Amino acid sequence: MMNIPGTILFDRHDIDRRVRELAVEINRDYEGKDAVLVSILKGSFMFLADLSRKLDFSHVIDFARLASYGSGSTSTGSVEIRKDIEIPVQGRDVLIVEDIVDTGITIAFFAERIRRRSPRSLKSCTLIDKKERRQLEFVPDYVGFAVDEGFIVGYGLDYDEQYRCLPDIYVLDERRLAGGGL
Ligand code: IMP
Ligand code: MG
Repeated sequence: MMNIPGTILFDRHDIDRRVRELAVEINRDYEGKDAVLVSILKGSFMFLADLSRKLDFSHVIDFARLASYGSGSTSTGSVEIRKDIEIPVQGRDVLIVEDIVDTGITIAFFAERIRRRSPRSLKSCTLIDKKERRQLEFVPDYVGFAVDEGFIVGYGLDYDEQYRCLPDIYVLDERRLAGGGL
């Protein structure tokens, strides 16, 4: 097993329970709809896979890949589309699935881009809502876990591409990271 420089914040059972609860809420709101789930890569791949299997309304899935520029873990506010979605969303019920909302810059940018394509409805679901560093006012419609601070890894979330594969969610201990801070 790899050496993980952090402590468990939410284990696989907490995650499973919470994803089930979210699915109940979303199933209620989307009953009878035919929706488009848009997952922002890479961090949300595991969450999307678990969530999608618990949704009982008809839905298709698409992916976008965004990159926000900045040094280290700080977003600069400029977001680049590396890969856009392929399914037309005009007149459709669209649900954006994100791993974590931090400054809010990535999801606000992406939601605005989708909105310009005139979906019938647009909502967002994030596994983790980290409010401490929010720069843009953005309120996700569905939130898995609200977290005050810290750098989160596991269950799809990475630090420098590492730890995405972990089944539990950890908060990194910055003092134990080789080479210093985040
Ligand atoms: P935002 O644009 O600042 O809201 O940042 C969103 C993106 O930054 C997320 O999609 C993640 O890829 C990354 N990110 C922000 N905070 C964390 C964290 O605590 N752990 C892992 N990735 C993070
Ligand atoms: Mg990331």
